Amino acid sequence: MLLKLSDVHVNYGNIKAVKGIDIAINEGEVVTLIGSNGAGKTTIMKTISGLLKPVKGTILFKGQDITNKSSPEIVRLGISLSPEGRQIFPKMTILENLELGGYTRSKTEMNEGLEKIYSLFPRLKERMNQDAGTLSGGEQQMLAIGRALMAKPSLLLLDEPSMGLAPIMVQTIFDIIKEINQLGTTILLVEQNARMALMAADRGYLLETGKVVMTDKAENLANSDNIIKAYLGEKEEE
Ligand SMILES: Nc1ncnc2c1ncn2[C@@H]1O[C@H](COP(=O)(O)OP(=O)(O)OP(=O)(O)O)[C@@H](O)[C@H]1O
Ligand SMILES: [Mg+2]
Repeated sequence: MLLKLSDVHVNYGNIKAVKGIDIAINEGEVVTLIGSNGAGKTTIMKTISGLLKPVKGTILFKGQDITNKSSPEIVRLGISLSPEGRQIFPKMTILENLELGGYTRSKTEMNEGLEKIYSLFPRLKERMNQDAGTLSGGEQQMLAIGRALMAKPSLLLLDEPSMGLAPIMVQTIFDIIKEINQLGTTILLVEQNARMALMAADRGYLLETGKVVMTDKAENLANSDNIIKAYLGEKEEE
């Protein structure tokens, strides 16, 4: 098992955002967390990354307890986050944004990383000396994913990669997510676009108000009546 969260609780002051969650991810999988606004998805991603600390519970990565490690240590160990809202640096160039993502790596690894990202995202290569703020929304999402990949993660955390993108760009991003997984990176994917997420994932967890209420193979979740009603909408809406 690559990552294991056991009975993880996370609070913001008095607000209990995550209330005793168990999640397990095997090497090579794409696992998705789905759930409505405020369910606790981003909180879980930040907690795995070391940006928030659980008040209770443990997180194991490759068998090692990372619950109280700092976020730079967690990046070095092989977990990297592409955050909700992308959070690229608009006044810095694409190349500079990517270099920031590789700060834990040697010069050689940095160059290898850039090669790999430019082959996944040729548009970033064409524009590498342009300010990141001039990129389109979809291109900024590519940059956010590329920046996370620069850390050479074995586990990539993607928080809402399709948010705000036109359908054609959503498809492109999901194709790239599959490709990254096929190249050997395990992925934890948070999405409100449950339909796309369940198509891309091997397994999924459904969160409601800080708790896991259902977990299964993605295929079974996509066929579950409860999920269809609450998260996939009517067929006619497609
Ligand atoms: N900095 C914060 N301070 C206080 N409460 C917070 C903070 N961040 C999140 N919360 C609360 O924690 C709960 C979970 O939020 P979280 O951002 O994890 O949800 P989410 O599932 O990612 O939602 P969305 O789909 O809207 O991104 C919500 O009730 C939210 O209001
Ligand atoms: Mg969120």
